[in-house]
Amino acid sequence: MRVVFVGFLLVVSIFGDDFITKMEYAKMLYFNPRGIGCNLCHGNNGQGSIIARYKVKGKREILRAPPINSLGFIAFSEALQKTHRVMPTYFLTNKEINILYFYVTSKAKK
Ligand code: HEC
Repeated sequence: MRVVFVGFLLVVSIFGDDFITKMEYAKMLYFNPRGIGCNLCHGNNGQGSIIARYKVKGKREILRAPPINSLGFIAFSEALQKTHRVMPTYFLTNKEINILYFYVTSKAKK
């Protein structure tokens, strides 16, 4: 896994911007951030989604992933650096957090 990632970085650095666009890289990271894809919970465009519906003692409960496409950068970045109840912990670099933010906010404008 690590070798594949390092190999990927190497390829990106050799081919530079011509190889894949910033948006293509951003999308790739959003769908495969070295862990469960953000899209599986927050939706393909960061719009949020319902993860599960279940019942506790006969009462209906809904587990949601919040929309993440209209947060300020600080809130977005802080959320990715702490542990959560439902969301997994990721080990992303600042650059990766920046590019994920670019992805969800560009999708929100469309
Ligand atoms: C397993 C489902 C799941 C995955 C996968 C997931 N999230 Fe989350 N995320 C959540 C849930 C649920 C919350 C609300 C906090 C909690 O209960 O864990 C959340 C919270 C957040 C928040 C804070 C939202 C706010 O309003 O403060 C951000 C930002 C965020 N996620 C971004 C991401 C990004 C980027 C990825 C991919 C690297 C990701 N999440 C992957 C479920 C997920």
